[in-house]
Formats: sequence, C-alpha cells, structure tokens
Amino acid sequence: MNAVTYEHIKTCKQSGARLGIVHTPHGSFETPMFMPVGTQATVKTMSPEELKAMNAKIILSNTYHLWLRPGSDIIREAGGLHKFMNWDGPILTDSGGFQVFSLSDMRKIEEEGVHFRHHLNGSKLFLSPEKAMHIQNDLGSDIMMAFDECPPMPATYEYVKASIERTSRWAERCLKAHQRPQDQALFGIIQGGEYEDLRTQSAKDLISMDFPGYAIGGLSVGEPKPIMYRMLEHTTPLMPFNKPRYLMGVGSPDALIEGAIRGIDMFDCVLPTRIARNGTCMTSKGRVVVKNAKYERDFTPLDEKCDCYTCKNYTKAYLRHLIKADETFGIRLTTIHNLHFLLNLMEQVREAIRNDRLLDFKEEFFEEYGLNVE
Ligand code: GUN
Ligand code: ZN
Repeated sequence: MNAVTYEHIKTCKQSGARLGIVHTPHGSFETPMFMPVGTQATVKTMSPEELKAMNAKIILSNTYHLWLRPGSDIIREAGGLHKFMNWDGPILTDSGGFQVFSLSDMRKIEEEGVHFRHHLNGSKLFLSPEKAMHIQNDLGSDIMMAFDECPPMPATYEYVKASIERTSRWAERCLKAHQRPQDQALFGIIQGGEYEDLRTQSAKDLISMDFPGYAIGGLSVGEPKPIMYRMLEHTTPLMPFNKPRYLMGVGSPDALIEGAIRGIDMFDCVLPTRIARNGTCMTSKGRVVVKNAKYERDFTPLDEKCDCYTCKNYTKAYLRHLIKADETFGIRLTTIHNLHFLLNLMEQVREAIRNDRLLDFKEEFFEEYGLNVE
C-alpha cells in the first residue's frame, strides 16, 4: 500500500475536472487543492493555527533551503519537519532541483548530479538524486518530489530530449535511494518543455516506474499561458487515473481554474504570499494594490465578498497605511487575505465540479475578475 493514495469522487460532466480526496499519513484533503508555500519551514508571517483557520490543508516546503539552513540533520533530530514547525497536517517537499536552477549561480549539470554555488554566500555545493532523497527522508514530508531538471523555456528540442532522459535516470536513482516508502510517498515529475512527444516520452518513462503520484514540471517558466494549457491537455490524459496529479509552481486564479478543467488535482505557488508582501491583493474584482493613492480614504474592506479575518475587521485605508509604514502587521493581513482568497476559490471550484458546472463558474469568475474567457 502506498503512503499516499487518491480517492476519486466524481468527474465534472461539464468540464472533465476531477473531484477527489488525497489520503496521507498526516490526514486527508479534498482536491483540486492549492498548497501554500512555506519555503523556510514557515508560511511567511502565518502561524499554523492561522493557516488552519483559513482552511489550508497541506503546505509545501523546500529541500534546498532547509538543507542549507538549518540542515536536515537538525530537523531529523527535532523529530522531523512536522514537529519542528508545529504543523501536524500533510507536508509536500520539493526536491531542490528547481531551486538550484532558479536561484543558484554557475551550475554545472553532470550525470551524477548538479554542482552549483550557494545563492547567498557563494560556497560550492552539490546536489544529486541520492542527496535529495536523503534530505527529504530526514525532513519526513508526506510527499517527496523526485530530483529533476527543469529546463528553461525556450530550450531546443535536442536539449530537452537529453534532459528528460537524464531526469528519467535520476528518477530511477531516487526510487532506489528512498528509505521510507511506507510512510513517505515519492512523486515523479514529468518534464518535456513545450514538445508534446517529449512530454509523452517523459510520462511513459516515469509511469513505468510506478510512482504513487505524478507532477507536471517545467511549466509557468515564462511561456505564454496557451502553451501551458496545451501541454496540460496533452499530458494529463497520459497520467494514471487513480493517482494524484500535481501541477508545480502555478497559482494565478485563472491558471488554477484552467488546470482543474484539464484534470489537475494539486497546485502550489509563492504568488499569493509573495505579492501580499508588497501590498498586492487578489479580490473577486481583480487585483488591488493597496499602496495606491486612491485608497487613502477608502474605508471599505479589500473585498466586500470575502469573509477572511482581514476583510471582516480592516479597511483598505488602514492596510495602505500599514504597508506604506513597513509594518509587519500589514503583510500579515494581506497574506491572510490572499491565501484565504485562493483556498476559497478552490472550494468554489470543488463545489462547481460537484454540481457539474465548472465551465459556468469559470465564466462567472473571469467576468467579475476582469479576465477574458477564451
Ligand atoms: N517547481 C516549479 N516547477 C518545477 C519543476 O519543474 N521541478 C521541480 N522540482 N519543482 C518545480
Ligand atoms: Zn479577505
């Protein structure tokens, strides 16, 4: 029995989206689901109690950051990441592959692994499939990710072909090195850039290895959204029906809905928490930049429709003041709102699937948010 399983509830008759439940050793959550990002073993400025109050069910953390600081041995000695950070719900950890490619300088990819320099102090580092597994076994996350290469877009066909072949060999090594399959599920990551046949090849290779779940990586790396949607339409039908499907690094409201329509179950992104820290909020009527002068005397909430702690108690004028004065409480309040907004959006997506009307919901949501329906 796998440590993590997918229970299918129903498929939306209108859109083909899936409603399901993912079961993990630290509890279950309904899908489609958005996972807030807690890179440094904290979702920035939020306590676990606050995350629970806004209905966060699973959070994501990062091998790369926790390996560099405080060190995975310290987290193992603390009793694992759940205990260390006082979060008793499910945790997913990314493998470090993507962070090496997005944060570090002077990387050199070899068959054995990746040589690179520390993104802050410049020291020499090396990460490999075996190391990424060892670190994630120390962290004790419910879902671990395979160590992959996320090629940039655009990249040549030849480059991406060689890259997915290496990512498949690395995936085999991850499976061999993984020490705790009974209580930690290791997910494979399908790559292939913008090339349909390479996505097919990558999916086939990884599915033959029988991972308990699969992610689609290498998207939302600067390509136009229609390319991402085309890759999803191509790839999700190749993925096993009875296992979770996770789209990595995607969290804009439109892409969450479009992803669900194309059969994705799980999403993560730094977007809601990152933009909250400069005072940008997602609301049912589109983005609100609270620093904007027009909110100086706006004594109404961020979003009239929102029932989060921030919207129930504070005005745009107050948020604008706190953000402009660099007060920590301001970014706590905008973070609470943005996470609540996306988690609530996913609840509405699940409700729409339940009622076979996700395409109708998309149209209503896009209209109000100010997006064009294709
Ligand atoms: N996060 C966003 N995209 C990716 C990806 O392609 N691979 C990994 N490991 N993490 C990601
Ligand atoms: Zn709110």
